[in-house]
Amino acid sequence: MIFRQLYDNTSGTYTYLLASRRGGEALIIDPVLERVDRYLQLVSELDLKLVKAVDTHLHADHITGLGALRDRTHCITVMGEHTRADVVSMRVAEGERIAIEGVSLKVLYTPGHTDDSYSFLLADRVFTGDTLLIRGTGRTDFQNGDPRAQYDSIFNKLMKLPDDTLVYPAHDYKGETVSTIGEEKFFNPRLKVKSIDEYVDVMNNLNLPNPKMMDVAVPANMHVGLRQADIAQKGWALSPAEAIALCGEPSVAMIDLREQAEREKHGVIPGSLHAPYPDLQKNVSASGMLRELAAATGRRIVFYCAYGERSAMAVQAAQDAGLTSACHIEGGIAAWKKADGPLAR
Ligand SMILES: [Fe+2]
Repeated sequence: MIFRQLYDNTSGTYTYLLASRRGGEALIIDPVLERVDRYLQLVSELDLKLVKAVDTHLHADHITGLGALRDRTHCITVMGEHTRADVVSMRVAEGERIAIEGVSLKVLYTPGHTDDSYSFLLADRVFTGDTLLIRGTGRTDFQNGDPRAQYDSIFNKLMKLPDDTLVYPAHDYKGETVSTIGEEKFFNPRLKVKSIDEYVDVMNNLNLPNPKMMDVAVPANMHVGLRQADIAQKGWALSPAEAIALCGEPSVAMIDLREQAEREKHGVIPGSLHAPYPDLQKNVSASGMLRELAAATGRRIVFYCAYGERSAMAVQAAQDAGLTSACHIEGGIAAWKKADGPLAR
């Protein structure tokens, strides 16, 4: 496995780059905006293709690199389902997986530092965001933080992992890089409490100043979504109502870009075809499946995904490749559902 721990010394943030092999797909966790050039240089040096960018939670101390990485690599942006960020391409829930070629992270919902804090588990290591730090825990005094929830996340979820599980946090300010669950169990001073009430008391009396970047970072990180309005302005978007009216029409082919797990969880538009987003370039290229479909049947290609982000990128790529009838459903399945569009399982 390729595994890189990268550091932003301005915010004390750790960013992790993962891939199963040189030349393969890569995923990045908690990227920092100012470091995006460096990440992309490394991605190219290691001959990787960045396909997913993930944040453990909505950060208050730095601006996320998710949007910039998406704009520059067309990767899928991922956060937990509790996020308040406007648009990420994919939202994941407890027990689900974030998968790329050869790497699969199990999603653990670990609220407390914020109400949208998630940890991600690989076989031998866990990325704990700011829920569990090395010899510390993330503050719980803003962004709907909750020391009770954090106690539960740490003691009833993270500490239940095997003792030799490596702990990779989102931050460290003292130069520590990695720990284990067993070490934290024994040596983390915050975990030396006798009860949940004692933990709550400790966390409620830290009296920390707000992060310097907070007033800038939080609002910025809530608006990472691609501007779907740009696609709409070019006439390449259908409102959910317009799309519902076209549902089942022989003149259109609705193309679902989501992953299988998302389709099973949220349902699919009846009669639509599945062409996952990672295969898009191949599918819209000269002899690609979608080009052939459009040419052979004359049907208009209508992309859709979860929130309209992957489909907006797909429309642009398809148009660039010469598939001039391509459009998408603005707001994706989330908007379709809101407009009472029919769904099949
Ligand atoms: Fe944080």
